[in-house]
Amino acid sequence: MTGRQENPWQSICSKHALQNGQFVEFSVAVAEQKIDTLPLTGFVFLDGNTPRAYLNQCPHMGVELNWMPGRFMDTDNLFLQCSTHGALFKPGDGECIAGPCQGDALTALDIREAGDSLEVRLPE
Ligand code: FES
Repeated sequence: MTGRQENPWQSICSKHALQNGQFVEFSVAVAEQKIDTLPLTGFVFLDGNTPRAYLNQCPHMGVELNWMPGRFMDTDNLFLQCSTHGALFKPGDGECIAGPCQGDALTALDIREAGDSLEVRLPE
């Protein structure tokens, strides 16, 4: 019996290229047979000194969070914010603390450093 195969790691950017306040967006590489909807996208950013990665998909309606490239934060620069209905998410764990999907959360992606690169992996 064979175990389930883990999703592969996907290189996103140089770890030196990621600056505080900057968001790097990417398309999620998925296996051909899984493509039955719009392409999934994600983003990485620094939460303090810790890189975080999430799917760019609001748990309320599944739309992308940002309406402009690289703009994910609320006006106070404290929370990630969905541009459609204004839900607010904690940067550290993606939990929605206000808005129509309160109590739900963004989908966090595993993230790691590999040499000079940051890599992410979809959850199983
Ligand atoms: S689609 Fe994000 S809050 Fe409604």
